[in-house]
Amino acid sequence: MNDQARTLWHGRFAAGPAEAMMAYTASLAYDQRLAQDDIQGSRAHARGLERAGLFTAQELSAVLSGLDQVAMELASGEFAFEPSDEDIHTAIERRLTELVGDPGAKIHTGRSRNDQVATAMRLWTRRALAEVASDVLSLQQVLLDRAVEAGDAYLPGYTHLQRAQPVLLAHQLAAHAWALSRDVDRLLDCRRRADVSPLGAGALAGTSLPLDPAGTAADLGFAAPFANSLDVTSDRDFVAEALFATAMVGIHLSRMGEEVVLWTSEEFGFMTLDDAFATGSSMMPQKKNPDIAELARGRAGRLIGNLTGLLATLKGLPLAYNRDLQEDKEPLFDSVDQIRLAVGALAGLLASARFNTGAMAAAADAPALAATDLAEILVTDGLPFRAAHAVVGSLVRRSLDEGVPLPDLAAADPQLGERTRAVFVPGAAAARRSSPGGGGPGPVRVQLDALRRRLADDRARLAAL
Ligand code: ARG
Repeated sequence: MNDQARTLWHGRFAAGPAEAMMAYTASLAYDQRLAQDDIQGSRAHARGLERAGLFTAQELSAVLSGLDQVAMELASGEFAFEPSDEDIHTAIERRLTELVGDPGAKIHTGRSRNDQVATAMRLWTRRALAEVASDVLSLQQVLLDRAVEAGDAYLPGYTHLQRAQPVLLAHQLAAHAWALSRDVDRLLDCRRRADVSPLGAGALAGTSLPLDPAGTAADLGFAAPFANSLDVTSDRDFVAEALFATAMVGIHLSRMGEEVVLWTSEEFGFMTLDDAFATGSSMMPQKKNPDIAELARGRAGRLIGNLTGLLATLKGLPLAYNRDLQEDKEPLFDSVDQIRLAVGALAGLLASARFNTGAMAAAADAPALAATDLAEILVTDGLPFRAAHAVVGSLVRRSLDEGVPLPDLAAADPQLGERTRAVFVPGAAAARRSSPGGGGPGPVRVQLDALRRRLADDRARLAAL
């Protein structure tokens, strides 16, 4: 390529860019996704130039209608990219200048692609984080609805993946919803820090021209303008935070995915997927597989990779802008796309799945799951817990060794006695988890009310953005 007259920097160069240089450095293939944000930034910048007396009213209106035309061409797919368009910012300025002439050639006054790209990225990130948060809220609503619907159904709670104590199914479903509510909080918190306008920072140091960053910040609806031009053009901590917040959602989804994988196995048999949210096998006609759940688990790795990759890129970068920073885009776009797909697919899977509460109850009614309750009866009698634990522990061992059911051994035990039959009644152990925040019906009812309020509050926070 020897198209030197076309680059943004051609004046300084005797020769045009090499094809290999452009091929390696261009970001147009992916940063096209910033097009509408870049145009929004250019509109605000143009209005700022007019307020500063650097654009006449006519120039401003020429530029604004030129930008409308560019936006239309980009949206409709008519926009013709040139080989010299190394990124979306270059392409838009080039086309604007073709359309409106000199006023277009003035749009970059007091501006650099360094503040320009940071502005577009912050606009994009601000919007994307709210969209992800809204998707996560929809998934939480599915969990809440299914929890309410589950009523007093119960299943074994597990630690170390060994049956531990029974809990309500609603408690288990709500546990995931609470984790997601912290994710929503993180997404919105991160959005707040992204909500700063870089426009007016120039390449790194501001400008000698009378620009007003506060004015363009207000025009773009940013909460504040930057405080330091070096900082705002060179830091991508807001992108790293967005990658962490989305990776954390992904990790939460991976844990839900793992549970779905376990529960839909014949070994557990706790859950049956709707056909629309399951896959078959190309060879084994009987198979019904939980691929969504596996990908929710597997793709979390990619989200973590996007985060760690960007952190590695940022580490050790000297002030201010370095081209390394162009590496912020693909991981961010990918993580946002992937998390939104995962949340949507998992919400559909969970909304349509059937819970096999009979199998859950059968597993939870195994007498051993009431062992802690037996010990707690002795504690109520005044025995120190450690002693009570030992009494019940030896009954459990005898039950296993001698093949005598634990309820019979407990009933025959002088300290425990016939009164303990009650804790082995199906469902009784689940119902006994009565402490605040615990897994029985009383605290779960309170908890679901709190969760419902939390979702309403978060929806209101999103609506107020
Ligand atoms: N495409 C570039 C990026 O994403 C735009 C900024 C280029 N600035 C520069 N000085 N080369 O970072």
